[in-house]
Amino acid sequence: MDATSEGDAAQLLEIQQLLDYSAPQPTYRDMLLAGGLDTTGPGVTMAVSREALNEAAKHPELFSSEGIYNLGNTRPLIPLAVDPPGHSKYRKILDPLFAPKRMDAIEDAIAARANHFLDTIVDRGGCEYHDDFAVPYPSAIFLELMGLPWEELDTFLRLKDGILRPGDGSDFEEMARVQAETGQEIYQYFDAVLDERAREPRDDILSQFLAAEVDGARLTREEILDICFLFLIAGLDTVTDSLSCFFAFLAHHPEHRRQISSDPAIVPSAVEELLRWESPVPNPPRLVTADAELLGTTIAAGGVLMLGIGPANVDPEVFADPFDVRFDRETNPHVAFGVGVHRCLGSHLARRELRVALREWHRRIPEYELAPGTELEYPPGLRSVRNLQLRWTN
Ligand code: HEM
Repeated sequence: MDATSEGDAAQLLEIQQLLDYSAPQPTYRDMLLAGGLDTTGPGVTMAVSREALNEAAKHPELFSSEGIYNLGNTRPLIPLAVDPPGHSKYRKILDPLFAPKRMDAIEDAIAARANHFLDTIVDRGGCEYHDDFAVPYPSAIFLELMGLPWEELDTFLRLKDGILRPGDGSDFEEMARVQAETGQEIYQYFDAVLDERAREPRDDILSQFLAAEVDGARLTREEILDICFLFLIAGLDTVTDSLSCFFAFLAHHPEHRRQISSDPAIVPSAVEELLRWESPVPNPPRLVTADAELLGTTIAAGGVLMLGIGPANVDPEVFADPFDVRFDRETNPHVAFGVGVHRCLGSHLARRELRVALREWHRRIPEYELAPGTELEYPPGLRSVRNLQLRWTN
């Protein structure tokens, strides 16, 4: 996600370009070899080692999430842009809605969704993976959970892209305008749906937001809208991005793909290893609130600290052979879902969706490759792959 002012946004985009989103791991290696911190540009530091990441996450009062996300929202995104102690109230309400038990209950529905979209492509001999599977599959599941209409998927995708991909990075004023306009539309859309749910509650997450209480108090309408804003962008984008990175990797690595096709039991550890290797959310930002020491280096107040999830996931202090992708790792303590209090709320849902997708896809389409002449595209933002033209080879 992007950060604060126009200048910061430009600088963060430069960092993303520096990282080469198609294959950032060699840059991660260079950063780690140079030390635990990387001073990427004036005012921007990246915590690259796991030690640096863990230390930074212990001090949200110094490395704050407040005021860092300026994505067309007029109030803080909840809970992402709220620091402790206020943050815990929201997690108390939200965590149970995305707990593993809840995900067990919807696993069959998730598999049915995967097969529904596989039905539409399996006989075609190939597909554009991003648009034909990676977008509709997790979006359908997410909209159903939230209680939002599938027929309006295109509207939700337009709103999500208006926030996360408002332009190509060449005109920051225009990008900010698109985000601000889209942000207003998001607030208005959810306000109207919440009015409906207040009149007629359903068995969906929006109705649960309205009914939820913590310490005897309900969430205000504004708080619920600020949660919905974040959910729209977090819930619709991240699994799509992860799937596109995973399948680009698998299309390029037949020996890994065949491990999955021949032994589906390996899927859970394959998902963890691909999350580690691809790190789809590579470097969430924090605002430095006061001059701060991190691994003995002073980081000046007012700057941005990027939490280098990507490099920390190939830190040799944590992983043996970090640059080998091995589906047989016995333990895999990766940080693809973040560290500290803001660790991903949707990780159980995301894991379930990724596992089911890998299992069902390879059961039905075990052999595929990149269609000849395909040029993969890696847009700025979170790591994702476009124009992923696949064709079946079995
Ligand atoms: C593979 C997919 C996903 C990845 C890699 C991912 C990654 C992350 C990361 C790294 C963070 C921490 C950000 C930070 O520290 O600033 C985060 C936070 C969050 N994620 Fe995810 N995420 C994924 C899927 C989802 C899904 C499906 C949802 C929908 C419910 C979701 C909802 C959230 C929320 C609400 C937060 C903020 C948590 C807080 O601030 O307490 N994520 N995610």
